[in-house]
Amino acid sequence: MSVKTLTIDGTAIAIEEGATILQAAKEAGVPIPTLCHLEGVSDVGACRLCLVEVKGINKLLPACVTEVAEGMDIQTNTEKLQTYRRMTVELLFAEGNHVCSVCVANNNCELQDVAVQVGMDHSRFTYRFPDRGVDISHKQFGIDHNRCILCTRCVRVCDEVEGAHVWDVAQRGAACYIVSGLNQPWGEVDACTSCGKCVDACPTGAIFRKGDTTAEKIGDRAKLEFLVTAREQQKWTR
Ligand code: SF4
Ligand code: SF4
Ligand code: FES
Repeated sequence: MSVKTLTIDGTAIAIEEGATILQAAKEAGVPIPTLCHLEGVSDVGACRLCLVEVKGINKLLPACVTEVAEGMDIQTNTEKLQTYRRMTVELLFAEGNHVCSVCVANNNCELQDVAVQVGMDHSRFTYRFPDRGVDISHKQFGIDHNRCILCTRCVRVCDEVEGAHVWDVAQRGAACYIVSGLNQPWGEVDACTSCGKCVDACPTGAIFRKGDTTAEKIGDRAKLEFLVTAREQQKWTR
């Protein structure tokens, strides 16, 4: 496999062909904020937080789904990108119902983390206050659609790691939402093995363990890495 050479924020790096800009940045020790990216499962480029500037290309590119090319000159933290990222996070807060003070994931939420990272202290956009439901039909877990940012990490981890494909995305645009089974209550979906991978993959408090209350959702990110790499490393056989 051939190697590509490029620069990221002025640092020259070499990485194998087929790698993404996000992987190259990681290799170079350059942090890029992400939300929908989950190490170990496929990327979909849903959240647009990882946008970067590439010299000679007049649109911003999502680092998680853009492959490196020879001679790329990439900037990851320009004023323009900072403005875009902050706006993206503000829009995520404005389009759902994120009431951190009563959320299971308070203090342990990746959405909160990126808000801090991009310097967001309020949203300049009008809150939509959508009327969304909560499904607590599963015996162990629940999903509160008010806190869903449609990152689809639950969809991909359940499909690609657990092989159950319980979750999917219904509708389009602003009407989009996550569905279980054939749009059935989660508790009625026989394919669910109750493994809990979607709970751990969810970056917000949207999917939670029943019984967890404010700030009680455990966000063990080391466990997440274990979940997506364990089969590869033969730590489990199933
Ligand atoms: S508990 Fe496991 S099988 Fe059930 S929906 Fe979540 S990831 Fe899929
Ligand atoms: S439920 Fe959680 S993991 Fe699934 S799409 Fe919504 S925010 Fe992402
Ligand atoms: S992390 Fe790249 S688009 Fe979400």
